Amino acid sequence: MDSILDKRHRPLRDLRISVTDRCNFRCTYCMPAEIFGPDYPFLNKEELLSFEEIEQLATLFAKDLGVVKIRITGGEPLLRKDLPILIEKLSNIPGIEDIAMTTNGTLLPVYADKLKKAGLQRVTISLDSLNPDRFKQMNGRNISIQKVFDGIEAAKKAGLAIKINMVVQKGVNDQDVLPMAAYFKKAGHVLRFIEFMDVGNTNKWNLEHVMTKKEIIGLIDSTFPIKPEPPQYPGEVANRFFYQDGSGEIGIISSVSDAFCGTCNRARLSARGELFTCLFASSGFDLKRVIRSTKDNEEIKNILKELWSNRDDQYSAEREQKKDQKKVEMSYIGG
Ligand code: GTP
Ligand code: 5AD
Ligand code: SF4
Ligand code: SF4
Repeated sequence: MDSILDKRHRPLRDLRISVTDRCNFRCTYCMPAEIFGPDYPFLNKEELLSFEEIEQLATLFAKDLGVVKIRITGGEPLLRKDLPILIEKLSNIPGIEDIAMTTNGTLLPVYADKLKKAGLQRVTISLDSLNPDRFKQMNGRNISIQKVFDGIEAAKKAGLAIKINMVVQKGVNDQDVLPMAAYFKKAGHVLRFIEFMDVGNTNKWNLEHVMTKKEIIGLIDSTFPIKPEPPQYPGEVANRFFYQDGSGEIGIISSVSDAFCGTCNRARLSARGELFTCLFASSGFDLKRVIRSTKDNEEIKNILKELWSNRDDQYSAEREQKKDQKKVEMSYIGG
């Protein structure tokens, strides 16, 4: 199939599907508890895309737009009831080569086996500190780090491939970078360090709190020498590095200090069924309305093609000029 290219000549390969805007954590950088409180207007069930609707859209994206990779996100995706049923539907779609999920890991002891059996290949588990107190404080709900360790263990037992994501904030958890590297080097899981991003409008982002890719590399390399590795697939978000002693891999995601919009091949489907062509977009296109008003897949396909071919986004590369625009909340489209 010929790829559909956007206005900056980028193909679409990766569809990130958010299945809920809810989360059992209140990470300070994503869903600060003072904003996402008991009265926060989360989506109700009728507003969400059904599994059948997600399957319908994912099938069209794979067949007609060249999507080969699906990532399930949230909020916390495992709060969506019966998620393994959706995974099974998606894993049967011709053309989808890779299905992954980003999760905080706490519900994996319940679901890891079922997810693996349903066709999930890998999970990326968020963990920002090995310090029990700091972890409790950062997740905003006083949740014990043991819950995440249990989740990692369950994923391992189930045979899921595992990556760990750590969002690094200067003055908050930068002292955890080396202990995290040491721990996951030994445990044999790929650890990715993520520059704190200015997603949404509520996380009080400040450039001074960003530990840059250069700083992270410098710190790690001084204790555990590393060497750069080429990407595993076109448009990979993380820059990869191998430990020189052969003990594994880390990744660095540098959306702030070294934007990677030039190769961005990702689209995001919100839990409510809007398509966002950038993580920092102000609004999305209401695909739910389209699929609830026509059964004609040809018509839907043409809309998807038009949306992608009109895409011009490159927020990270234009951050300085765009930073005051209203942005969708991260928990709404899953990062
Ligand atoms: P792999 O499939 O394992 O390569 O994972 P991934 O890095 O694509 O996904 P993950 O959900 O683990 O995302 C890691 C971090 O990168 C998160 O903080 C995401 O918000 C961020 N991220 C992913 N895609 C983009 C993107 O297109 N733009 C920006 N700015 N950040 C992104
Ligand atoms: N900056 C960087 N990464 C973030 N994430 C959530 N909010 C932010 C932010 N402001 C991460 C989560 C998860 C991934 C999907 O995005 O920790 O690992
Ligand atoms: Fe929940 Fe993940 Fe956001 Fe934390 S970063 S509040 S775990 S969605
Ligand atoms: Fe893609 Fe937008 Fe991220 Fe740039 S900022 S890499 S265009 S999602």
